[in-house]
Amino acid sequence: MSTKTQALRILLMGFGSVAQEFLSLLGKRTMFLRDQLEVEVIIQGIGTIDGLYVLSGGVRADTLALWKDPYQEFVQRGKLCLDSLSFITEGKKAGASVLIELTYLNPQDGQPAVTHIQQALQSSLDVVTANKGPIAHAHKELQTLAEAYGVQLRFESSVMDGLPVFNLAHFTLPAVGVQSFQAILNSTTNIVFDMIERGFTREDAIQEAQRLGIAEADPWYDLDGWDASMKTTILANVLLDGNLQPSAVRREGIRDLSVEAIKKAKSDNTPLRLVSRASREATFVKAEVLPLPISEHSILRVAEGLTNILSLETEAMGTITLVEHEPTVVQTGYGILSDLITIIRQREHKSH
Ligand SMILES: NC(=O)c1ccc[n+]([C@@H]2O[C@H](COP(=O)([O-])OP(=O)(O)OC[C@H]3O[C@@H](n4cnc5c(N)ncnc54)[C@H](OP(=O)(O)O)[C@@H]3O)[C@@H](O)[C@H]2O)c1
Repeated sequence: MSTKTQALRILLMGFGSVAQEFLSLLGKRTMFLRDQLEVEVIIQGIGTIDGLYVLSGGVRADTLALWKDPYQEFVQRGKLCLDSLSFITEGKKAGASVLIELTYLNPQDGQPAVTHIQQALQSSLDVVTANKGPIAHAHKELQTLAEAYGVQLRFESSVMDGLPVFNLAHFTLPAVGVQSFQAILNSTTNIVFDMIERGFTREDAIQEAQRLGIAEADPWYDLDGWDASMKTTILANVLLDGNLQPSAVRREGIRDLSVEAIKKAKSDNTPLRLVSRASREATFVKAEVLPLPISEHSILRVAEGLTNILSLETEAMGTITLVEHEPTVVQTGYGILSDLITIIRQREHKSH
């Protein structure tokens, strides 16, 4: 490490598909982080449901990328912590300043991730998460907490993975006046529609989504529209300044759609997709998720196959449409890295 290079120590809560993809990318971007940002990322702790471990001294991201089973290395060499709070406390004592929260989606109340994030913010750690649950259920409270403790809460990859949606609105299009949006945001249902249209079964499609690492731990959270309604809540609250709980989003999944209905819609040239919509009304924000036929003239038709799309109607910039072509978990891993880089840059900005 050169004299100018600073260590940035991170804790990973959750070590599934996204965390592993993020670490692989982090390993590859070590030189960028050193050369451009003068930062050496050190993994200080890894926690899963089987145990939370903090490693004295931690391990450099490029070294960890060479390990076959990083979690087992932490199990063997690290200190076992009793619960999430002691994991964060021990991690902080060892120098960690960022928690990356990547546990599973709980659409009912966002727990245990809400608690993990609260504990980290109250310990003055910056937080990055791809988990929709805590942001959909408690964004305002968590943001207020982050401000009170002078730390950052970043969640770019909770919607459309690494595609800049929140960073675009915040840093590049401030005060643009988003009035409404329509979107296709759930990749698993996209695979289900696409594969059924091509003659496969729903089970084949779920297996494919699991193989790609993009299905929720419980794939019915995708098919029943929970994942999309969480994302719709987050977009409605952050971009339209709504104050919605996920239960206020009208939600209709694709569980009851027959194979015949899906194939007929496709042959009528109006394929079905799970659509998210929200708009500012006079005194409130209205949001819904439901399967809809997509006509040839709809902007959403751009999103074929697995592709996700978000089309915003704005006061100052008219229609702006973002398209994420064929997303996989790699893009989610990138979203975590981009949030980490934003944290580093914002810290630097604050210190000047
Ligand atoms: N996959 C994607 O493409 C994608 C895209 C955008 C957002 N996301 C979101 O990113 C998050 C992670 O997704 P993923 O695909 O990586 O999930 P995953 O593969 O199911 O991994 C979840 C991880 O969380 C751990 N975990 C569960 N409960 C925990 C607890 N109470 N304390 C500590 N660790 C706990 C699990 O431990 P075990 O290993 O012991 O089970 C596992 O390591 C989810 O919230 C998901 O909605 C995922």
